[in-house]
Amino acid sequence: MKYTYIAGTGSYVPDEIISNFALEKMIDTSDEWIRTRTGIVERHIARKDEATSDLAVKAAQSALEDAGLEANDLDLIITATVTPDMLFPSTGCMVQKKIDARKAAAFDISAACSGFLYALEVGDQLIKSGQYQNILILGADTLSKITDWTDRNTCILFGDGAGAVILRTREKEQGVLCSHLYSDGAMSEMLQVPAGGSLRPASEETVQNRLHYITMKGNEIFKTAIKAMTEAIEQAASSVGIPIDNIDFFIFHQANTRIINAVAQRLSIPENKIPLTIQKYGNTSTASMPITLDELNKNGKVHQGDIVCFAAFGGGLTWASSLVRW
Ligand code: UT7
Repeated sequence: MKYTYIAGTGSYVPDEIISNFALEKMIDTSDEWIRTRTGIVERHIARKDEATSDLAVKAAQSALEDAGLEANDLDLIITATVTPDMLFPSTGCMVQKKIDARKAAAFDISAACSGFLYALEVGDQLIKSGQYQNILILGADTLSKITDWTDRNTCILFGDGAGAVILRTREKEQGVLCSHLYSDGAMSEMLQVPAGGSLRPASEETVQNRLHYITMKGNEIFKTAIKAMTEAIEQAASSVGIPIDNIDFFIFHQANTRIINAVAQRLSIPENKIPLTIQKYGNTSTASMPITLDELNKNGKVHQGDIVCFAAFGGGLTWASSLVRW
């Protein structure tokens, strides 16, 4: 029997920081509103010439170093992103070129903020099948590039970043215990970028109507996210027979501390089991969970044998949960 374990983690956020106070000067908002409604204090924003793959490369290099591997040891790169460098080739191929991972195949996964867990599940199954040994999983996004900086409903939320994990194979029972993925395309209009694809290709009209930016029904997503993530965590715990109380850490997609607190309250999860990075980085989409995991790992807080639960929610709509024994 083969098992998939996380052999290394890495993350990267760009240098430029935009604080809530800076946003007060750009739109009709306040630091107080943003902090109390979302938990966000500041976010990091990529430079104009910095693409998603540039952030992903830095996270990948850090994860490779943590795992004690070279880029040439990789046989697969799976990148979860909704802000690829371009429509094609994939951002994974851009990363492969930049880190010189000559033996690796590469492709992208589009599942919005749940993308990291979708990529983790695909990587886990490909390792368990015996087909691949060393897989780089990336969650990387530059949402600032598709954010309408005049829309106070969305622009206060997002930040840029990348997170990475290296998946490896071993015979000992350790690593990914289960993943559960869910989608409901009937609610796709709740969170989307309406133009720029084959349905509405870029035109003068789509640009004038600001259709290349994120639109979101925040309030409806808020309620759906709480219910969906609560149920996904319950499903994960019951599928492997681990009581929720026995889980050591809960790494949530960092979209809103009020969403995280509501799920925690429903499942009686104590605060000290929930690492948060949203205050520093905002909602970094696919990157938020691997960034949070990397900080937990590099700060020496997660120990061998600990059970880590992941839960995410995002556009699609998509949601997911995973359990990992460290
Ligand atoms: O990552 C993927 C999934 N995305 C999410 O999970 C996001 C989920 N949604 C949320 O996190 C929250 O719905 C938001 C943070 C986006 C909004 O918080 P809310 O408590 O749902 O606020 P609201 O949309 O109900 O708006 C409340 C009020 C409104 O004013 P009125 O109509 O009550 O007068 C808004 O116009 O707050 C106003 N408002 C703002 N005020 C100051 C909205 N945005 C702002 C702002 N600054 N930036």
